[in-house]
Amino acid sequence: MERAVSLLRAGELVAIPTETVYGLGADASNPVALAKIFAAKGRPADHPLIVHIADASQLDEWAIDIPQAARKLTQAFWPGPLTLILKRRPGVPDLVTGGQETVGVRVPDHPLALQLLKAFGGGIAAPSANRFGHISPTTAQHVRDELGDAVELVLDGGPCAVGIESTIVDLSRGTPVVLRPGMISAAEISRVLEAQATLDQADSTSTPRVSGSLESHYAPSTPMRLVLARDLDDEVSRLLAAGQRVALLSATSSPGFPPRQWRQAAVDARPYAHDLYAHLRYLDSLGADIILVELPPLDAPWTAIHDRLSRAAHQA
Ligand code: TXA
Ligand code: MG
Repeated sequence: MERAVSLLRAGELVAIPTETVYGLGADASNPVALAKIFAAKGRPADHPLIVHIADASQLDEWAIDIPQAARKLTQAFWPGPLTLILKRRPGVPDLVTGGQETVGVRVPDHPLALQLLKAFGGGIAAPSANRFGHISPTTAQHVRDELGDAVELVLDGGPCAVGIESTIVDLSRGTPVVLRPGMISAAEISRVLEAQATLDQADSTSTPRVSGSLESHYAPSTPMRLVLARDLDDEVSRLLAAGQRVALLSATSSPGFPPRQWRQAAVDARPYAHDLYAHLRYLDSLGADIILVELPPLDAPWTAIHDRLSRAAHQA
């Protein structure tokens, strides 16, 4: 922890565990340190970063004109997997905001991240600690696999409890807009706000830019396809008969399917999200010709999972 703090103070990168995914952290007030994040990830400089803070009382150091809605949401969900987009305070580095007039902020719900934020004192800008466009890391080993020596220190906080990235809510436009769905649903946000939060997954050309909104994102290197449960056995047989090496993520395996090439998908959304990226990483490591993923249920708790699956399956 001491080393992490001194590295951050010295403008170096530290990978940190959060409840969602691991983040690649740097001092959010130091442009030289921030530039190292973009270099390590291979990420375009106009993609804004989320500022992580120790508690909601630090919000005013990053944002201005904070609406009542923000106070309600922070009380209900922080620390937790919710990022708020607010009007930026003048002086927040352009590398954090991507040059926009807004800033993304959240308080992560992980004891090590909170301990580090308190000890450091300032904000830590941290995107997911993966190479740009690739699958987000949910263990310390994933971070090493993704970034190697590009990050000095990885704080190992175990596997991430939630497993997919935070819900992003834009409160800078008057009405609340969900820019990226997460395990805190639009319905839960609407209930707390007593106002309808709309789901707007902006396309990659609109502003504000959300890199999660690029169509191909969170993606394994192996081509990936989503298949309806009722078509799965037929599709697997067809591909195997054609001599294809198939990797499979599904609730039940197909008859005779090689066990090493199958990961069992959970039937509830929370455990499914928890394991999703580790499963995709494993299946991607097999060198298969294709990853088939059984389409999960379509009802509300699965919205964020469908978002990630369809982006992972999108062929750029
Ligand atoms: O769960 C998470 O949010 C993780 C952990 C590490 O906190 N972080 C994460 O960061 O997913 P990243 O950079 O991989 O994704 C953050 C998304 C990006 O798509 C970025 O464009 C968007 O948040 N974002 C950040 N600031 C924004 C802003 N001012 N306006 C619109 N989108 C913003
Ligand atoms: Mg990311």
